[in-house]
Amino acid sequence: MKWKWAVLVGGRGSNLAALLRAGTDVRLVVSHRAGVGALDVARSAAVPATVLEPGAFCDRAAYDQALLDVLVAAGVDGVVLAGFLRLLGPVVVDAFAGRLLNVHPSLLPAFPGLHAPRQALAAGVRVTGTTVHFVDRGMDTGPIIAQVPVPVWPDDTEATLTARIQAVEHRLLPRVVQLVEAGEVAWIDGRVRLAPRAARELSRWYGKNEED
Ligand code: GRF
Repeated sequence: MKWKWAVLVGGRGSNLAALLRAGTDVRLVVSHRAGVGALDVARSAAVPATVLEPGAFCDRAAYDQALLDVLVAAGVDGVVLAGFLRLLGPVVVDAFAGRLLNVHPSLLPAFPGLHAPRQALAAGVRVTGTTVHFVDRGMDTGPIIAQVPVPVWPDDTEATLTARIQAVEHRLLPRVVQLVEAGEVAWIDGRVRLAPRAARELSRWYGKNEED
């Protein structure tokens, strides 16, 4: 069965565009910032988009309730965080537990939080990557579904490394969304369960990078 999805954004929207290209049924886009590229991506695809700016709410709980309300009103089955730079409150996380995904530009638990490619360069690692995980109440701490390594080259800048990581994200995230829809990936009793076919497929990604 195909799920209806909301995508929460705050940046360029390249992952949103990748999801739309892959045929993900995106019914709602929510941005925590006005004027970002992701809203243009939503507009071009005629997907309803809402801006929920934190400054417009008296506190975090009011913000989270408003977010939950728009998600419920849109009747979505699942939610993808793609560039949404706010920690979700328990009211949202609990309502969508196991149906809430995040894509993060590092091999978690390394480099959580903001500017992960910049953190990777500062640490001098030779390999970083991307992670798609279920969202729990922590910051980039939820159970990991899939990870793909990406090399760091000596002459990389934050921009070149980010671009290399994102090229992988654009293929991985839509595929994970499909596997979740197909029931081949689920978060059950605190663990990520992968159907054997999904586990085999995702393991093949470990050796992939943008040049494959
Ligand atoms: C992606 O790199 C994602 O990993 C991170 O935020 C970035 C969003 O980029 N969470 P975009 O807005 O999808 O282009």
